[in-house]
Amino acid sequence: MTSAGERREQLKASYERARVCVACALHESRTNVVFGAGNADAELMFVGEAPGANEDQQGVPFVGQAGRLLEQLLGEIGMQRGDVFIANTLMCRPPGNRDPYPHELDSCRHFLFEKLELIQPTMICTLGNFATKLLRGEPTGISRIHGQHEERTIGPRTVRLYPLYHPAAALYTPSTLELLRADFLRIPELLALGPPDQGAAPVEPEPDPEPEPVRETHPRPGPEVQQLGLF
Ligand code: URA
Repeated sequence: MTSAGERREQLKASYERARVCVACALHESRTNVVFGAGNADAELMFVGEAPGANEDQQGVPFVGQAGRLLEQLLGEIGMQRGDVFIANTLMCRPPGNRDPYPHELDSCRHFLFEKLELIQPTMICTLGNFATKLLRGEPTGISRIHGQHEERTIGPRTVRLYPLYHPAAALYTPSTLELLRADFLRIPELLALGPPDQGAAPVEPEPDPEPEPVRETHPRPGPEVQQLGLF
């Protein structure tokens, strides 16, 4: 088992690789790679679609209007950004905020899976269609499965996957906002279930001698990690 400190170092190394990624043409128009931000030991991770203009400028996910709504909804369940980790299916902004192309999702997905493996969340909320379809590996749309949690094995770990409407979709549609809010309000009860049974996931070797941090305490970041937009 890798210690929390080692996973954090590996996350920083992943960020350094992402910063110079030229795997698809989106690197030509980006200002910043938006790697993801938040608590590197988060139990709860959000996966959105792709950076918009504000995110591209600042290199941080969900800092525009949709991000403010996400923060508000987090606040309503007693959480804040620093408690969770927020990432996207794509790390670079598609020009004009167009939908991600399949080959872009394919190029970027290993970075997302690396984050999942290193942060080891027990629960992942996918925001909108692109993240939901990518992580479920199925074409079912968000309007059919929002709010239906399930256990999914992604890479080596089994997580609680909880599809939600994308906050941007809720910004101007009150009925979608109400559905998103109702689904959001169930997050604490789902988190309280604890980590799902790892079932068929590979058995990990002997515990690391360095104790894992108590996840509920949401450990605070070292300053060097904060500079990378990570807590
Ligand atoms: N929408 C997303 O999906 N991600 C962001 O980072 C911002 C808006």
